[in-house]
Amino acid sequence: MSMARRSERESGKHSRIIADVRYIGNKTRLLPFLLGTIRRLGLAPGAAHDAFSGTAAVGRALKGAGWRVASSDLMTYSYVFQRAYVVAQRTPSFAALRAGDPELRRALRSPALQESVAGKEGGALAAVCEYLARWVEPERGFMGVNFAPEGGRMYFTQENADRIDAIRHHLHEWWTSGLIEDDAYYVLLASLIEGADRVANTAGVYAAYMKGWQSNARRALALRAEIPVRGARGATAHRADAATVARTAGKVELIYIDPPYNARQYSGYYHIPEIIARGWFDAPPVLRGKTGLVAGEGQQSDWCSGRRAGAALAELLAATEARHALVSYNSEGLLSERDLKAALARAAIDGAVQRFSRGYRRYRSDSDRIGRVYQGDRVRELLYHIRLQ
Ligand SMILES: C[S@@+](CC[C@H](N)C(=O)[O-])C[C@H]1O[C@@H](n2cnc3c(N)ncnc32)[C@H](O)[C@@H]1O
Repeated sequence: MSMARRSERESGKHSRIIADVRYIGNKTRLLPFLLGTIRRLGLAPGAAHDAFSGTAAVGRALKGAGWRVASSDLMTYSYVFQRAYVVAQRTPSFAALRAGDPELRRALRSPALQESVAGKEGGALAAVCEYLARWVEPERGFMGVNFAPEGGRMYFTQENADRIDAIRHHLHEWWTSGLIEDDAYYVLLASLIEGADRVANTAGVYAAYMKGWQSNARRALALRAEIPVRGARGATAHRADAATVARTAGKVELIYIDPPYNARQYSGYYHIPEIIARGWFDAPPVLRGKTGLVAGEGQQSDWCSGRRAGAALAELLAATEARHALVSYNSEGLLSERDLKAALARAAIDGAVQRFSRGYRRYRSDSDRIGRVYQGDRVRELLYHIRLQ
């Protein structure tokens, strides 16, 4: 999930800087195409369900375009992103935290901290990030013991792992003692998951770590929290199966369906962001194997099974009360394009499936190689539209 920050200019209406998270299937670069297709179809902003939210890139773009978004994903880190980028509406004030944490209060008053955040956007939010990343003493905890050299694994340098431990511990304490509210907790936790990812010693996914230290891993962990933006009231986040949420979301104008399309389970590729998102304070996870996967981890998606993906699609299309569905699916996925189109045609009110496609220049990263169809140095993105009602 490491990310290269870049301007969101491409995505149309947004002018803020967002994280382009390295995540298999991340649609950040597809946003102009997706939002453009929605406009071409003449869909006016209303309620939408971003059913496979991942990084929440699509949900946040829909929010920015005026939609009221319900989003869902099986993974806890996705729930954190959904809460931070889709549900949160205001910059946290941190009044209770300042009042209740004397160490933070002292640090915020110090000229050194004030100087280091001078000129940065985000006011108190940026200052709290700086405090967590640079002022809090690193501590040896679950991450340092398991995912750094002390535990025989090289996902993070010992220093960065110990910092992740200290920050995650602080967030847990602040939140459970009521010093920060949900929005602040999720915004800061999202910035920790992304910050940790920027210094992760991996090739993009956590299925393995590198044998030597990469330059990004040697850098000091930094937190850059996104300032929440206002959107339509009533946005919701769900760590749940897409079809289950579709059943409770009620009538929506649009469902965006961006499922996994091959056998690789996200729970195996992103186990470390998942552990950071969940925390380890009540019941530390039991790890197994060289990479430290969580033992007995049950988040297996039907969409990653050749036998079950077709039924999962039919179930979702039957469950949703959306008027329109837009579907992203790789033409080399478990479902052949023929089967996909046939399933979509069966669900469509008029039997019609419209296919939109757009070419891009190749973006060289592991995650994108996995997620797209390449022709030479071009990549083709496909979007299917059906009317359901
Ligand atoms: C292709 S990615 C989505 C990427 C997302 N659109 C983005 O821009 O980041 C597929 C996502 O589906 C999630 N997923 C897998 N099975 C699911 C299910 N049954 N219900 C909801 N989400 C699921 C995975 O955890 C993963 O985040």
